[in-house]
Amino acid sequence: MLILGIETSCDETAAALVEDGAILSNVISSQIDLHARYGGVVPEIASRKHVEAIGYVIREAFDTARRRPSQIDGIAVSARYGLIGSLVVGVAAAKSLAYALKVPLVGTHHIEGHIFAPILSHPGIPMPHVCLTVSGGHTMLVHVKGPCRYEVMGNTVDDAAGEAFDKIAKFLDIGFPGGPAIDRLALKGSRTAFDLPRPLVRSRSLDFSFSGLKTCVVNMFRDRPPEGLPLPDVAASFQEAVVDVLVSKALQAAERKAVSAISVTGGVSSNRRLGEAFQEACGRRGLAVFFPLPDLRTDNAAMVAAAGTARLAQGEVSGLDLNAVASAPLESLR
Ligand code: KG4
Ligand code: ZN
Repeated sequence: MLILGIETSCDETAAALVEDGAILSNVISSQIDLHARYGGVVPEIASRKHVEAIGYVIREAFDTARRRPSQIDGIAVSARYGLIGSLVVGVAAAKSLAYALKVPLVGTHHIEGHIFAPILSHPGIPMPHVCLTVSGGHTMLVHVKGPCRYEVMGNTVDDAAGEAFDKIAKFLDIGFPGGPAIDRLALKGSRTAFDLPRPLVRSRSLDFSFSGLKTCVVNMFRDRPPEGLPLPDVAASFQEAVVDVLVSKALQAAERKAVSAISVTGGVSSNRRLGEAFQEACGRRGLAVFFPLPDLRTDNAAMVAAAGTARLAQGEVSGLDLNAVASAPLESLR
């Protein structure tokens, strides 16, 4: 099955062609440079830039894959979860093409796309498994019972982990997006320099909270200029606190569901220290751990095509009345 995936939920305009698990093209037009001067994604700008880019990005996805629109068997689009003005652009493009080409359309959940990134990267990944999906918009532990069958085990009660990275980086004035900036700076620092809290790490709940940790870092600078503390040490200690919590909760979730594998996905799964810590912890417990291929860690459309392929294979099709929804529970798709 040759599926066109479309992703516009935040600040990446993306289109991909995936055929029976093989990625033929994966085109991403990033708006990062446009938003960097504001220190965060400006929804209105994001939406307008998607309108400008979407046609070119879809065309490039076909050109790179050396396929024609008439050859596709279906279209999958991120229709739920994200910035509403951004989502509607991808949904409108997907509906127009599905109508013109007379092919089935399927709306997917953005987080479901992230869950499919490690599945697309490692076809042998065991089912069921536990997935930690962690990005700028969400931090979630999901029991993946089978393709498109999910139980959410934990969620953030305030900031997403990536959002905490972005806000701390903005506060320290070290760049946008904050995750990669902190990741780089932390390489030069000591992760034990500051003893920061590990929020909810001892609680039985699998929920996360990163807002207090963020405040704690900001308070360390109270009454002193940012250069008053060694920034690489602050970055490394903050990163270590986030990584400890993410690894510890994912291991608890895996133990509770007695699964043999964990997948880690979403933008924050690019973090070097997170990768290292998961390999160490899972290695000690005999658990397998799967990360997406590097290009599939942050937002992309290949993961959307993979999720859509699974939904279409189950006979699910969306009507041309498909609407973008900014906030919808993952389980609402079952
Ligand atoms: O999945 P994604 O591209 O978009 C959302 O769905 O939000 O994730 C973007 C997030 C941002 O918060 C960014 O700072 C974070 O992922 N991120 C990282 C790293 N690379 C991206 N966080 C920590 N370390 C990284 N290397
Ligand atoms: Zn995302």
